[in-house]
Amino acid sequence: MRNFSAYIFDLDGVLCHTDQFHFAAWAMLAKRLEIPFDASVNDRLRGVSRMESLDIVLGEKKNAYTTEQKKAFAEEKNAIYRGYLQTMTPADLDEDVRSTLLKLRADGHKLAVGSSSKNAPLILECIGLGSFFDAVADGTQIAHSKPDPEVFLLAAKLLDVKPDDALVVEDAEAGIQAAKAGGFYAAGIGPAADSTRADFRLQKLSDLLKAPV
Ligand code: BG6
Ligand code: MG
Repeated sequence: MRNFSAYIFDLDGVLCHTDQFHFAAWAMLAKRLEIPFDASVNDRLRGVSRMESLDIVLGEKKNAYTTEQKKAFAEEKNAIYRGYLQTMTPADLDEDVRSTLLKLRADGHKLAVGSSSKNAPLILECIGLGSFFDAVADGTQIAHSKPDPEVFLLAAKLLDVKPDDALVVEDAEAGIQAAKAGGFYAAGIGPAADSTRADFRLQKLSDLLKAPV
């Protein structure tokens, strides 16, 4: 793998594992609304914004509610989700993730987060990375979520690097698409590890360190 000036990490599914919390919170809302919901629907929410996720969860019922009702549903899900997030501690940061970030930092690379989540600051705080990154671009700062490249372009701007000097690490196909649309190099991990759009495929984050970086 070539040397990159900067690394921009997606948060959910790359630096930490919040999938099961999203799943449990959406499942509670779906149950209350008597809407079928399973892991295959949850898989389609990866990298997608909260309101877009709600439309996917509501499925064919997405036009059956007013904007106010939909906002209330999203808030209801988010309150449940944040309750789960608050159970996370620095012990929930994988050793592989922790040591990889520290090595990249020690080698002088710029490091950022590029996440669709509006809960990114809370999550980073809970897992002990609240003040680790050189920049955090998240769902509170953007108008268009992945596969739009806005969040990664913002991260690159905050880091003062050009997209083609930065590697985006993503677990969502929407995130890989966003990275490529923004002119970044992209590495897929987890569900995106076999993405044909990704420039690199990682089994674990420390694979970033395999070649000289
Ligand atoms: C992404 C998740 O990181 O954040 C999506 O992959 C989620 O599943 C999105 O919908 C928005 O999250 P939040 O925390 O703003 O509701
Ligand atoms: Mg993700």
